[in-house]
Amino acid sequence: MQDEEACMSYIAHILEAVNAQLDAWYINDSEEDQRLPHHLEPKLYVPVQKLAELGLAHWVLDSNNYEHDMELRKIRAERGYTYQDIVDIAPDLLPNYEANLKNFYKEHMHADEEIRFILAGSGYFDVRDFDDRWIRIWAKKNDMLVVPAGMYHRFTLDESEYIKALRLFKGYPVWTPHYRPQDEHPSRKDYITFWKRQ
Ligand SMILES: [Fe+2]
Repeated sequence: MQDEEACMSYIAHILEAVNAQLDAWYINDSEEDQRLPHHLEPKLYVPVQKLAELGLAHWVLDSNNYEHDMELRKIRAERGYTYQDIVDIAPDLLPNYEANLKNFYKEHMHADEEIRFILAGSGYFDVRDFDDRWIRIWAKKNDMLVVPAGMYHRFTLDESEYIKALRLFKGYPVWTPHYRPQDEHPSRKDYITFWKRQ
């Protein structure tokens, strides 16, 4: 019995470790539908450590219990996330869906963090590395991501065409995208200074 318990505990631990991973890969620049994975050939995956080095924060949290989740409460308190709302994106939920999806996909940055906790569905956050290559991050239910201020990025739904996400913010929310180029923007300069290691 003890062996069985130990075995189950070990499996749970491994599953937790696997779940803590974030699927991310370098993408090609083909003109195919943005909702496709756009893998390189052969596929080239990106480890979570690399994303962390670019300033991207990631947690795996319990989205079924987000209103009472102690870890989320702790993150909100520590990082000062005082605002939250929920967005639901799907073809029949978003007015001007195709046009909006193309807008989300324009490369931009923000003067503040972009914080998303995925409650259902999935989508792709593309971020630039310091060699200006796109990395595609597949955000799924339970993933919480923070794209730092000043980091060039874009978003698209994937082939499932559905995502429900909690948006968090420090203080009064500002969602303004600053489209690239923004090399002189103070948040861009701060991002480069803080995260880029020569
Ligand atoms: Fe954004």
